[in-house]
Amino acid sequence: MNDQGDSERARPVPQTVTSGLTRAAIFSVLTIAPGAKSRDTVREVCGDLTALVRSVGFREPRGTLSCVVGIGSDAWDPLFGDPRPADLHRFPEIRADGRHAVSTPGDLLFHIRADRIDLCFELECQLLNRLGSSATPVDEVQGFRYFDNRDLIGFVDGSENPQGQALREAVLIGKEDPGFAGGTYVTVQKYLHDLNAWNALPTEQQEGIVGRKKLSNIELDDSVKPSYAHNALTKVVENGQEVKILRDNMPFGSPARREFGTYFIGYSRSPETVERMLRNMFVGEPAGNYDRLLDVSRAVTGTQFFVPSATFLEGLGESL
Ligand code: HEM
Repeated sequence: MNDQGDSERARPVPQTVTSGLTRAAIFSVLTIAPGAKSRDTVREVCGDLTALVRSVGFREPRGTLSCVVGIGSDAWDPLFGDPRPADLHRFPEIRADGRHAVSTPGDLLFHIRADRIDLCFELECQLLNRLGSSATPVDEVQGFRYFDNRDLIGFVDGSENPQGQALREAVLIGKEDPGFAGGTYVTVQKYLHDLNAWNALPTEQQEGIVGRKKLSNIELDDSVKPSYAHNALTKVVENGQEVKILRDNMPFGSPARREFGTYFIGYSRSPETVERMLRNMFVGEPAGNYDRLLDVSRAVTGTQFFVPSATFLEGLGESL
C-alpha cells in the first residue's frame, strides 16, 4: 500500500456525530455506579456499541438508527486513565442577574437518533439492560421533530448548522490533540419554556429575540436585528472567522403536565466555543445585553462530555 493508503488507514473513524438530523431522538444521561465491576461493564457496553446499533438498526430497512456515546469528565480517569482528552472538564455553571446555567451530574450520554422512535426506544432498552446496576439514569428525554423543524417556540431550529467538510472541521478534533483525533465534545442542556409568556409576545418582538422571521425563517437584516438577538449572541468569531458548532436540538414535553421544552445539544471541536456562546447568552455581550429567550426559558440540566472516536471504542472491545 502507498503512503496515502497507509495514512488513510491510520486515521481514526469518528462516531456517527455528523450522521444528520432525524425525526426522533432519545437523550439518556447516566451516572456510573462505584466499583471496578461497574466500570468493566461500562467499557464492555461502549466497546459493543457499534454492534448493538447494527443489530437493532438492521430490523428497519432504511437503517436510520445511530447512537453517539459521550463520557463525562469525572468518569474519564476511572474508566480509561491516562491520557485524557485535553479540554475535558465539568460543565461550568453560569449565574447572572437571576439567570442560571446549571451544572448537573452525568458520566455517560447516549444520543440515540432515528427516524422512528421505536428504534430509539429499543436501543435504549438494550443499552440499559446491558448496563444493569452498573449505571443509573439521571435524565432521559424523548425528543420529536415538530412540523418543519420548528422548536416549541415556533421557530425553525437548525438552519445555520454547517454542512459537509465545514461540519467535519467544526466538530472533529484534529492535530490539536492527536491522541484523540476524530473525537469531539458535546454539551447538553434541558430547557423548559414558559409558553404562555412567550406566546403573549407580539410576533415581531419574538423575531427580534431569535433574529429570524418566524414564518419564512429568513434571517433579520443586520440593520434591524437587535444586538441581543439569539443568533447575534451565539455568533462566535475568531481571527475573522466564524466558529460553528453542530446543533441537533429537539422539542420535548407533555401537554398534560404543561411541560414544554427544548433539549439543546451542541457538538464542537472545543468546549470553549459552546461556553462562550453560553456566557454571551446568560451574562450578555456586553454584560447585561443577554439573550431574551432566557426570560421565558429555564435550563434545568447542563452537562459536558467527550465523544471518543469509533476507533477508540472498538479498541475497548478488542482489549476485553
Ligand atoms: C432555549 C433553547 C434554545 C432555543 C429554543 C434555540 C433556538 C434557536 C433558533 C430558532 C435558532 C435560529 C435558527 C438556526 O440557525 O438554527 C438558533 C440558532 C442558533 N443557536 Fe440556538 N436555541 C437554544 C439554545 C441555544 C444554546 C444553549 C446555544 C449555544 C450554547 C445555541 C446556539 C445557537 C447557534 C450557534 C445558532 C446559529 C446562529 C447563527 O449562526 O445564525 N442555541 N437557535
